[in-house]
Amino acid sequence: MSDIKWLPDGQKMFEKLMAAVPEPMREPIRPKLLQMLAGKAAGQPVSGDLVKKFVDEDLPEPQRSALMAALGMKPAGAAAQPAPAAAAAGWEGKAEMMFERMLQEVPEMMREVFRGKLMQIANQKAAGGPIKEDHVVAIVKEIVPDPFKTNILKAYATMGDVDISKVEEIITQHPGGEETLITILHAIQSQYGYLPREALILLSQKKNVFLSKLYRLATSYKAFSLEKPKKNIITLCTGTGCQVCGGGALLKQVEAKIASNGADITIEKVRCLGCCDMAPAVMINGQLYGGDEAQAKLSEILR
Ligand code: FES
Repeated sequence: MSDIKWLPDGQKMFEKLMAAVPEPMREPIRPKLLQMLAGKAAGQPVSGDLVKKFVDEDLPEPQRSALMAALGMKPAGAAAQPAPAAAAAGWEGKAEMMFERMLQEVPEMMREVFRGKLMQIANQKAAGGPIKEDHVVAIVKEIVPDPFKTNILKAYATMGDVDISKVEEIITQHPGGEETLITILHAIQSQYGYLPREALILLSQKKNVFLSKLYRLATSYKAFSLEKPKKNIITLCTGTGCQVCGGGALLKQVEAKIASNGADITIEKVRCLGCCDMAPAVMINGQLYGGDEAQAKLSEILR
């Protein structure tokens, strides 16, 4: 800051501007902003108004709009028109989910401003058609700075077919602090059958808790699972009653099938299913089968 002459309100306004920059970017970007501001001031003392003028005239979108909002500035002229906050012709594939994931990296106080601006850019890229996944990826690559860009692209690479739009709703239904986490995790678990990583990331941002804390909770209770459930859940009984009636052979049959073609099956083993008179007993997707019926149902699933 040594080659800038500050007026008291100028320095104050600049620090306010810096406070609105996302934390990981703040120090890396400070020298560049100071250099640009020094150029704008051209040797004159920097006032608060000059800092505002610099933001308005010299910064690129969408950062300009976000920082103007953070400094309490009103956009002038055409820029005052509200940006469309919806996809003009809808979405294609996972584009909407990817767009929301991109916004999760933006601090909450600036998210709505960014949403409008980024939506405008996405609509331009879509050129009258639906916004596609490629359009969203292009925005991330062209506009989003690192480390956010890397985070987002990494998240896209591991993004499954999970629609996490319900998660926001669940979180909103449970206002409060950390005391609500377990209840919310239960609600997410019951919505998806497991705790998708994307849902945990969103929850950590919304409740301002470390992601590692959520993982600790998720792995501390048997009621939570971090893995997407397979299509079929087969619970096999390893109790003596079932083993002597052919339960061991059923287990080997299922394990061999999974080993040979990676069937979409989760195996659970229990000591007793509580229906020893049906031995060998098997529970398939919550339904009990015994004896010949168990073998027939297994053969059907393993086909
Ligand atoms: S021993 Fe298998 S159901 Fe009880």
